[in-house]
Amino acid sequence: MDGNGRWAKQRGLPRIEGHRRGVDAVRNIIFGARDLGLGMLTLYAFSVENWKRPKTEIGGLMHLLEFFLKRELSTFVRERVALRTIGRIHEMPPGVQRILREAAEATASFNGFTVVLALNYGSRTEVADAAAAYAAAVAAGREKPGSPGWEDLSRYLYTAGMPDPDLVIRTSGETRISNFLLLQAAYAEFIFSPVLWPDFTKADLSAALSEYARRERRYGLTSEQLKPENA
Ligand code: FPP
Repeated sequence: MDGNGRWAKQRGLPRIEGHRRGVDAVRNIIFGARDLGLGMLTLYAFSVENWKRPKTEIGGLMHLLEFFLKRELSTFVRERVALRTIGRIHEMPPGVQRILREAAEATASFNGFTVVLALNYGSRTEVADAAAAYAAAVAAGREKPGSPGWEDLSRYLYTAGMPDPDLVIRTSGETRISNFLLLQAAYAEFIFSPVLWPDFTKADLSAALSEYARRERRYGLTSEQLKPENA
């Protein structure tokens, strides 16, 4: 969800105003994604690197996050939207942790559409945490020592039990991955939209899904192997 700062700057507004409008886009895209038939939507809301931003911006973002979750929780429950998180949640402010826990518990039984918030998330931190958890499991005798396969290791990632992303969209014209789901997105399709996040609409999401549908995902195979009737 990139481009909040630039959206604000273009209008001569403080950066936090861009984030505030970004929250409106979050709400629209959550329900837009659900209405377009997606099963899961992961939003990269705060990275491990984002702690290096000015303290006032971090405080503003945490406040917006807590405010958003408190305001929307009853809607999530009514609309049967499940809420989950990935990242080092235990390092988030206590108020945010509390509402995240409450939201996760209140929506745990819903399985139609899941929103995953990536908070204090970074792929490299995730791999380090997974390696430590795996090593601890081996030491405790819960895993066999030796050469683990991807299936074994992936159960220790924050995303354990979640499907890999099929499509990753980055807004604002930047063409970087920025430490987001590096392993899980191994076979994902990428779309880099020029639209700044606060302006990103359900129509933009729908256009991205149409482009995704036109792509051929080969997973290392040839086109002919995928469509033998055309060979
Ligand atoms: C990137 O734009 C955006 C962020 C670092 C924060 C995203 C957070 C929100 C949209 C609000 C809170 C989230 C939820 C889920 C309610 P940027 O600030 O890097 O923009 P710039 O590159 O134009 O400066």
